[in-house]
Amino acid sequence: MPIVKIDGKEIEVPKGTTILQAARMLGKEFAPPAMCYYSSIKGTGGFCRTCLVRVSKSSAQNPNPMPKLVPSCKTEVMDGMEVESYSNPQVLEARKGVVEFLLLNHPLDCPICDQAGECKLQDLAYEHGAAKGRNEFKRREFEPIEIGDKIKLHMNRCIHCYRCVKLADMLAGKERVHGMIHRGENSEISTYIQNSIDHEWSGNVIDVCPVGALTDKTFRFKSRVWFTNPMDAHRKCDKCCGKVRLWLKGQEVLRVTARPSNEYGEVTEFICNECRFEKKKISDWVIEGPSKIDRHSVISINHYEHLNQLKVEAMKHQKALGFIPFDKRP
Ligand code: SF4
Ligand code: FES
Repeated sequence: MPIVKIDGKEIEVPKGTTILQAARMLGKEFAPPAMCYYSSIKGTGGFCRTCLVRVSKSSAQNPNPMPKLVPSCKTEVMDGMEVESYSNPQVLEARKGVVEFLLLNHPLDCPICDQAGECKLQDLAYEHGAAKGRNEFKRREFEPIEIGDKIKLHMNRCIHCYRCVKLADMLAGKERVHGMIHRGENSEISTYIQNSIDHEWSGNVIDVCPVGALTDKTFRFKSRVWFTNPMDAHRKCDKCCGKVRLWLKGQEVLRVTARPSNEYGEVTEFICNECRFEKKKISDWVIEGPSKIDRHSVISINHYEHLNQLKVEAMKHQKALGFIPFDKRP
């Protein structure tokens, strides 16, 4: 089995493992960001370039570095390979550039977007982006598209990750009615001649979309996600696993989503549209208990504790610098 070194740490992995998968095996702090790769969807990866790394040694046989940064989700490890990710300033700078490109046409309408608070692009920009963008051009604009009675598409927010297309390929096969049309900066996710997506598993595209481009019409504008109370629940369903996450406000079920099964927020057990859109009464479900949100996000447990710690540290510096808070000034 090949042995690879990532940011100075060695791991032995099965043949055929990609650098990104090997880094995830090492732990979350080694894992490059990924906006298009999704471990449970076939054919994902290679579209967004957020997972770029530098291969400083190609293999035990070939100690030369690879000439360019490579997408770690599409590059298989070789025995003796050495990879630099978070330890290489060139890689970090390149990731900043990728974030800038992803935001080039993004409307930054987080204050009114349903995905705010659980958006992968927000997290990415916060963790890997630059403080300022340099774009002075007009962003492209689309009218929202109704793709069925339950899903609305906001193309303005799409980052062309292809996750929804690949998921539809996997779940619907030849019945898929949406995809990427046009090319380059004109490319857009769309259905052929405004078709609606009415496959009985279609709602899953909402969960895998990393941004707020595909939205659940039964939840739109009902609540900010951080005002809801996520609960794990299940029901007996003859179409899917029936294991879901309910987003509650009091006793009201505002939204039903599939339950992510790993620390990267990825779903492995997809749910049917009946569970997602039609079972909106709390009595439809057996409640298991509060969900543990294991992500760096405003909705995760202890997030505010973390912020408080930062504040405590900042306050210490203020004191050392002789700074007097404005409410304590004479
Ligand atoms: S709609 Fe969402 S999932 Fe589909 S390509 Fe755009 S960003 Fe990706
Ligand atoms: S996660 Fe590798 S290219 Fe998108």
